[in-house]
Amino acid sequence: MNNVNPNATKWPLSSRLFHWVSAILLLVTWILMLLYQNTDDKAYIGLHKAFGISILCWMIARVINRVFTKAPPAPPMPKWQRVISKLSHFGLYALLIAMPMAGLLMTVYGGRPVDIFGLFQIPVFVTPDRSAARFYNDVHTDIIWPMIIAFTLLHISAALYHQFILKDKLINRMK
Ligand code: HEM
Ligand code: HEM
Repeated sequence: MNNVNPNATKWPLSSRLFHWVSAILLLVTWILMLLYQNTDDKAYIGLHKAFGISILCWMIARVINRVFTKAPPAPPMPKWQRVISKLSHFGLYALLIAMPMAGLLMTVYGGRPVDIFGLFQIPVFVTPDRSAARFYNDVHTDIIWPMIIAFTLLHISAALYHQFILKDKLINRMK
């Protein structure tokens, strides 16, 4: 993923769309889970799953788009910041793919198909297994979710640091 366009000042339109739609999908998926936890209404968990699967599809398309598009040149910064930026971006991609996969596996190992907005269902494609379901439940809620929170907070803090302390207009590259 080191394809750079030396003349670009912004990410290509496709990358910007992929970025902001991913952020919105993540927010919606999380809000649906909060609604479910606070109301116990099954409709919300159904929508949480459907939006979560949408994130999986969107992220796979985003990675393909990332391989075929060129990034703007990295702004000048100390090497350690560049390394952390690359690692955290890679981490966010990996987490946003692993999270819905764990959710899907938790559900099908629990013996439940996943309904996608009433359009079609992902069938139970494994032999249901309670201990596997519990394992992926733990991975989903206790491992990957706290990592998503940590990486996203780091990411947004870095964006705010560029905007208000360095004042280098980095956010314009993604607008
Ligand atoms: C990137 C996508 C996803 C995100 C960010 C996400 C996030 C979350 C969060 C924050 C929770 C609550 C954790 C807690 O108890 O504190 C949760 C629970 C859950 N998620 Fe997801 N999820 C995603 C995708 C999915 C998918 C694709 C499925 C299933 C197809 C799914 C099924 C579930 C289920 C069944 C629970 C409830 C677990 C329980 O109550 O023990 N999630 N998810
Ligand atoms: C207020 C919220 C956010 C702001 C201001 C923001 C800002 C940015 C900016 C400015 C970049 C480009 C950095 C560069 O040019 O080198 C970027 C890249 C990126 N953002 Fe965000 N972002 C936000 C939310 C999120 C969220 C919620 C996620 C996913 C959880 C995310 C995932 C990514 C990823 C993976 C990249 C790397 C793109 C690449 O190198 O292919 N962002 N973000």
